[in-house]
Amino acid sequence: MTTDILSQLRGLRQSRRFLDKPVPAADLTTILEIARWTGSAKNTQPWEFIVVDDHEMNVKLSETAPFTGFLANVPLSIVIVLNGEFRSVPYDEGRVSERIMLAAQALGLGSGTGWFGTPEAQAAVRDLLGIPEDKIAWSAVGLGYTDVSQPQTTLSGRKPLADLVSYGHYGNRTSPNS
Ligand SMILES: Cc1cc2nc3c(=O)[nH]c(=O)nc-3n(C[C@H](O)[C@H](O)[C@H](O)COP(=O)(O)O)c2cc1C
Repeated sequence: MTTDILSQLRGLRQSRRFLDKPVPAADLTTILEIARWTGSAKNTQPWEFIVVDDHEMNVKLSETAPFTGFLANVPLSIVIVLNGEFRSVPYDEGRVSERIMLAAQALGLGSGTGWFGTPEAQAAVRDLLGIPEDKIAWSAVGLGYTDVSQPQTTLSGRKPLADLVSYGHYGNRTSPNS
């Protein structure tokens, strides 16, 4: 069981290609329930979620930013709407989106973050979805069954631990256990 969880954590990747197959309603409910229980700074829970399963709307969302094109092919996306500008909100958003992705993975679904990274993209998303002026959406998580027929290599791989970890003092790369 522990091994399964660890391999799921280690294996979580961004999906950008999806099968034409809907996300089961019960799975969506489970994912939203898990998202709801994500921790946040001072328990502010600075989020709301817009579930978009309309293909045309996901196509429009996909056209708002340079790297969101894959949203055109998602069966469903969850747009994360944030309340306010409190400085911990970006951290909270990262936690909740990762938790959505991990919940999806546990249910056999793939997921991918689409980032509405510019003020223009955020304004376009606001208009498309009717998001009030005092709230903002920076990202959506696309969900569906991953199309694994073509390997995905875009921007993947990771730096080795030897380049990331110091022991006791910055820059001391030698592990005490080696
Ligand atoms: C804050 C953030 C924004 C991202 N925005 C996008 C995006 O707009 N489009 C996209 O295809 N992937 C996006 N990604 C996914 C990253 O490209 C992906 O996590 C990274 O390349 C590692 O890919 P892998 O986990 O599949 O190996 C985003 C990830 C994060 C954390």
